[in-house]
Amino acid sequence: RIPVILDGDPGHDDAIAWVLARSSPRLDILAVTSSNGNQTIEKTTYNALRVCTLLGIGAPVARGLPRPLLSEVVSAGNIHGQTGLDGPKLPEPAMALSPLNAVELMAQVLSEAREPVTIVSTGPQTNVAALLLSHPELKPKIGRISLMGGGIAYGNWTPAAEFNILCDPEAAQIVFSSGLPVTMAGLDVTEKALVFPEDFQRIRAVGNHVARVVADWLEFFYQFHRSIGYAGAPVHDAVAVAVLLHPELFETRDLYVEVETCGEYCRGCTVGDLHGRTGRPPNARCILDLDRQGFVDLLVEGAEGYEEV
Ligand code: BDR
Ligand code: CA
Repeated sequence: RIPVILDGDPGHDDAIAWVLARSSPRLDILAVTSSNGNQTIEKTTYNALRVCTLLGIGAPVARGLPRPLLSEVVSAGNIHGQTGLDGPKLPEPAMALSPLNAVELMAQVLSEAREPVTIVSTGPQTNVAALLLSHPELKPKIGRISLMGGGIAYGNWTPAAEFNILCDPEAAQIVFSSGLPVTMAGLDVTEKALVFPEDFQRIRAVGNHVARVVADWLEFFYQFHRSIGYAGAPVHDAVAVAVLLHPELFETRDLYVEVETCGEYCRGCTVGDLHGRTGRPPNARCILDLDRQGFVDLLVEGAEGYEEV
């Protein structure tokens, strides 16, 4: 089993990523940490607790840093709603928040881990960067950082930048330049990770309480995306988990990636050295394409992993 820490800003697609992670016997969730991003840290932390309660995740849950390293706070209430996870009613948290903050909890889990841990980070990279800065001695305990963020070809929040990276470009640059193995699920692949209404119906038909909530989340997420011209719901964050479970569904390319932290128009852009112009060795495994049907099948299988309570 791959030991993982789930760091994210739930968020519909973060929550669906966690549905996949929890249902897989191949992953062992050691901790869950919230990040500021889709909504304020108070809201994403509350959502993290509610999602963990829904899914029966028993790992400790810790609150992330309230703001990016240098940037102002940006939220995506237009996409995920005022709660950060609008849509179906969720259970109230059945567990208490960890007394440690996200960085302290990650440090504790890593220092106690007997094998390298994969960090799945589906929000801004603030917590992970703060961990790397404050505990460089723990780097050998991190096997991989599988993140959703960026795009080699384009952005979604600005023409050049994707939301998670734009929220905290300095943190993202710290992660990409850390020397650790990074898998980047950027918009190049996640905009193709589309789930269509007929796919939600397959998930709903699985029939358990988690499947119904996932179908409702997808429906909510789809309504927003449909209004801006998408044919389905792009379940960005689930790609960062799916690639750990079924790498054969994805096409990747190792690239040297830097994050633009200064640009007037391009702050937060992930600049991928597609043609080897820098002469620098790759620092990220960038996912560029996927088998969409296989991805949807995996989401259905994920939903099947829960029993009605
Ligand atoms: C990313 O931004 C957030 O709104 C989603 O949860 C995802 O992590 C996509 O750009
Ligand atoms: Ca997210």
